Amino acid sequence: MKVFITGASSGIGEALAHEYAKRYQGEGVIIGLVARRASHLQALKDTLERQYSAQCVIYPLDVRDAVALTQAASHFITQFGAPNVVIANAGVSSGTLTENVEDAAAFKAVMDINVLGLVYSFQPFIHVMREASGAGQPAQLVGIASMAGVRGLPGAGAYSASKAAAIAYLESLRVEMLHYGITVTTIAPGYIRTPMTAINRYRMPFIMAANIAAAKFVNAIEAKRRFVVIPWQMGWVARLMRLIPPVLWDFLARNAPHKPRINLD
Ligand SMILES: NC(=O)c1ccc[n+]([C@@H]2O[C@H](COP(=O)([O-])OP(=O)(O)OC[C@H]3O[C@@H](n4cnc5c(N)ncnc54)[C@H](OP(=O)(O)O)[C@@H]3O)[C@@H](O)[C@H]2O)c1
Repeated sequence: MKVFITGASSGIGEALAHEYAKRYQGEGVIIGLVARRASHLQALKDTLERQYSAQCVIYPLDVRDAVALTQAASHFITQFGAPNVVIANAGVSSGTLTENVEDAAAFKAVMDINVLGLVYSFQPFIHVMREASGAGQPAQLVGIASMAGVRGLPGAGAYSASKAAAIAYLESLRVEMLHYGITVTTIAPGYIRTPMTAINRYRMPFIMAANIAAAKFVNAIEAKRRFVVIPWQMGWVARLMRLIPPVLWDFLARNAPHKPRINLD
């Protein structure tokens, strides 16, 4: 099993790396780990190699840097061939308000990381994965979206917009990749216990531990799900949210608590 994971230095990405290393222990698992914090990636690599004899390569980079991602992909492909699975998981979330001029930079960072980061993560692999798929090797691209992309959440315009864009982008990609035999899976998490949600001061229904979520994510990936909300209870919430007319959404969401602002520099 060969997996390339972005946003692997904490939270869901780190838990996914653990899950793949554990699940494929003894079968020769190779994991590419991407994030900006090199020390966190190195610690994870050491742990996975020690605990599960996984082979890990770290790529400390920013997913906004298309050139760096191309170089990382090229290194991975040269060393190990086409990955079976590429998971574009890196993402950021911060409260934003359009009326605040100082939030313009946060809007840009969130859109660049959460949307263009997906494109830059997948693009350098498509050619080689297309060939691998033609030769009978499973090839799958996975994007981590969010429930927040289902409707616009007040106080999180940048994040909601980025995840709505991610959902639509991944759907376009899924249909494009049909011709190449490359599966595309969109995972829209509800609340998962990670550093991203640790700062929230409001109730998070059905919140799930990252390790349990990661096992469910990998199950969904292996089942080649096209679009899945995890945990499943939030899947029903998402279906309901989609059905609600704008006037009712406005009424229900008008006093919703806002995501805290964080520094994205
Ligand atoms: N936790 C939830 O409840 C939840 C719900 C829905 C969706 N999600 C999505 O799940 C994904 C993972 O989130 P998480 O909860 O695990 O958050 P997290 O613990 O904050 O992890 C985010 C990861 O993304 C990486 N990252 C952020 N910006 C990056 C950049 N510019 N370049 C490279 N890596 C970058 C971070 O590493 P560095 O800082 O080291 O770069 C970190 O590894 C995100 O896309 C998030 O939107 C999470």
